[in-house]
Amino acid sequence: MNTDRQPSSVTYTTHGLLTQTRPLQTTVAFIGGGNMATSLISGLVADGHDPHRILVSDTEHEKLANLSARFGVRSVSSNLEAVTHADALILAVKPQVLRAVCEEIQPIIQKHRPLVISIAAGVREIYLQQWLGHSVALVRTMPNTPAMLQAGATVLHADRNMVSSQQRDTAESIMRSVGLTCWVETEALLDAATALSGSGPAYFFLVMEAMQQAGMKLGLDSGIAHLLTIQTALGAARMAMESTESPATLREKVTSRGGTTETALRIFADGGLVALFSKALTGARDRSAELSRMLGEANE
Ligand SMILES: NC(=O)c1ccc[n+]([C@@H]2O[C@H](COP(=O)([O-])OP(=O)(O)OC[C@H]3O[C@@H](n4cnc5c(N)ncnc54)[C@H](OP(=O)(O)O)[C@@H]3O)[C@@H](O)[C@H]2O)c1
Repeated sequence: MNTDRQPSSVTYTTHGLLTQTRPLQTTVAFIGGGNMATSLISGLVADGHDPHRILVSDTEHEKLANLSARFGVRSVSSNLEAVTHADALILAVKPQVLRAVCEEIQPIIQKHRPLVISIAAGVREIYLQQWLGHSVALVRTMPNTPAMLQAGATVLHADRNMVSSQQRDTAESIMRSVGLTCWVETEALLDAATALSGSGPAYFFLVMEAMQQAGMKLGLDSGIAHLLTIQTALGAARMAMESTESPATLREKVTSRGGTTETALRIFADGGLVALFSKALTGARDRSAELSRMLGEANE
């Protein structure tokens, strides 16, 4: 995994997240103006991207009107018009409708040849290329839900023979507007990333849920247990993000011999927590690959 390709325009925010500070001089068009597109538009505009260089197309007129009113972006009346003006085109529709959208825009894609970025979960590059007419500069990405707060983690993959380094930088800059980005060298690793960062927010919610319940069992008021849990999660995440030390070292540093943390960690170890995480992520990775296969077969 390549995580060290960071352009000079990158900085850390107070939340310790990487953001891009130099606005892109690129016209970015979205097909689909739903949740994920809204997050990306919000992030791009917050990063200083000119809203007039952001175009959105959607089947619902009301959604487009809301996006224009909220962010000043331009709504277009058709997917074809979106492609015509795009330097970078983001496919932000649900996987189930992606084939129809790609086949609709194929002639214009082949004529204008924009960079195409897919955020659709599980739709493989081989199908996207087939539906778009082949030889397309295509980047496949896997964002996660904290993108809504510009605190996402997005994993990207591109075939180096199809996508120039400048186009990779463009894709990276766009996705970085909603949080951290990193590249993987093989498309199959997107399934691993889905298991880690795609599904990951739910694992942390589960841990928070369990900690809150355990705190309540020990007599803490539910509101206090809730606040202590989420603030501790946030504090630990910020320490891990902003420190140069690994989580393992940070953990060791807060674990005094014979103390309370050591007792709790030993009980976690006796319960096989680390192995359980590995098993759970392997299951999620395999399921991601299986869903991807099924989605491909359903579209054949
Ligand atoms: N949400 C996440 O956290 C998340 C995380 C990772 C990846 N993703 C991926 O991001 C993509 C978008 O997800 P989302 O949650 O943003 O979905 P969403 O809120 O449903 O947005 C998709 C939008 O596309 C519109 N649309 C449907 N058919 C269209 C067409 N033919 N032309 C133009 N627009 C059309 C939909 O309109 P209607 O509502 O009228 O159908 C909807 O407004 C998905 O492929 C998903 O796998 C999402």
